[in-house]
Amino acid sequence: MGSELTYRRHEPQTLSDSYSPKPNKPWLSVIRPIRYMLREQRLLFVLLGILLGAFFIAILPSSSHRQITYHDAYSVSQLAQIMNPPQPVYRPGFGSISSGGKVPLGLKRKGLRIVVTGGAGFVGSHLVDRLIARGDSVIVVDNFFTGNKDNVMHHFGNPRFELIRHDVVEPLLLEVDQIYHLACPASPVHYKYNPTNVVGTLNMLGLAKRVGARFLLTSTSEVYGDPLQHPQVETYWGNVNPIGVRSCYDEGKRTAETLAMDYHRGAGVEVRIARIFNTYGPRMCIDDGRVVSNFVAQALRKEPLTVYGDGKQTRSFQFVSDLVEGLMRLMEGEHVGPFNLGNPGEFTMLELAQVVQETIDPNAKIEFKPNTEDDPHKRKPDITKAKDLLGWEPKVALRKGLPMMVSDFRQRIFGDHKDSSSSA
Ligand SMILES: NC(=O)c1ccc[n+]([C@@H]2O[C@H](COP(=O)([O-])OP(=O)(O)OC[C@H]3O[C@@H](n4cnc5c(N)ncnc54)[C@H](O)[C@@H]3O)[C@@H](O)[C@H]2O)c1
Repeated sequence: MGSELTYRRHEPQTLSDSYSPKPNKPWLSVIRPIRYMLREQRLLFVLLGILLGAFFIAILPSSSHRQITYHDAYSVSQLAQIMNPPQPVYRPGFGSISSGGKVPLGLKRKGLRIVVTGGAGFVGSHLVDRLIARGDSVIVVDNFFTGNKDNVMHHFGNPRFELIRHDVVEPLLLEVDQIYHLACPASPVHYKYNPTNVVGTLNMLGLAKRVGARFLLTSTSEVYGDPLQHPQVETYWGNVNPIGVRSCYDEGKRTAETLAMDYHRGAGVEVRIARIFNTYGPRMCIDDGRVVSNFVAQALRKEPLTVYGDGKQTRSFQFVSDLVEGLMRLMEGEHVGPFNLGNPGEFTMLELAQVVQETIDPNAKIEFKPNTEDDPHKRKPDITKAKDLLGWEPKVALRKGLPMMVSDFRQRIFGDHKDSSSSA
């Protein structure tokens, strides 16, 4: 039965009982012992293979160096930096972080290489002015979402100034000593459409770690939410709605602070955290929904000043030059923070409207509208910590700073260079 099943060619099967020895094949005598060894000593051969493999792997790295591509070499150095984060070297004589005492008289401090993300924005552009004036080389990284080239155009042509159009939600590699991270839309009308805090901060912290740069985060008083403690001290943990319309900004900045501290503790990155309170001044975005810019633009256009709610909610307003001074002191100082940077002078919205009326148009009308969601009732910084540790406090009073902003707004809205008598 079996032979019938394997019989395929319909040829007569010759079945014979007689033994006929197979023809002698000489090569079989060589193959047979090898076959036997292969069959019976399989395990031995497997082990031999593993040993040979291990041997080649062990000797390969020295010979494969020749084939390393640029990309591989970069990854290797990255790895080395991750294992051994380099300590930033600060030039002697550079503020309080100098490592070697004062620069001898007659020798100039060498400028630092500094990246300012969001440097084409309101605060960023003023910071860039100060850094360039100090002799540093500045790279502005901005996607112009709320910023404007006009704010930094006066530095075009300066070899110590560079401008890169880049969105910080994408990684970027730059060799720098310090990173001021400001990139983030700061007004409610903008940040609702472009929350960049978390990913942008993560990328910039990654850059700081890779190149050993010092990193300053511009956080905000919004981390205190609608505060239950007044004035707000840095140790207060805040009262923030995690799912409201403003949460992308408030919680985004809180997360950014967390990331900064984690990079500081876990990867040795030198971080600095500033909690900025309401700031105003020239180059602010017109019509961006922030109260000072709103009032000033409305008064100049002879429109009624919009007050949300009953106008009794309070804010503190610091002039931009005070903030920039505070940011630079924080960056150069020894302390991580967070530090409140704001002007403790507290105004209700109605009082602010009154100052704007006095400065621009005494006949400007006030129009009340329902309050926006999650609008904090009170805001006032306690700046004791910044005073004690940074030697910083604001110098410009609202009535002195506002005319400078009015003059800039007037120029941008009407394109003229005249100041009103009240703003002079
Ligand atoms: N001005 C204030 O009152 C205030 C208060 C608290 C905190 N802050 C913080 O200070 C920083 C600067 O604020 P500002 O008032 O100058 O605001 P701004 O909107 O004028 O400046 C922000 C800048 O960041 C840029 N930007 C935004 N998203 C970006 C992205 N993804 N990639 C690259 N660039 C991007 C914008 O184009 C703009 O130039 C912000 O981080 C803000 O949260 C400001």
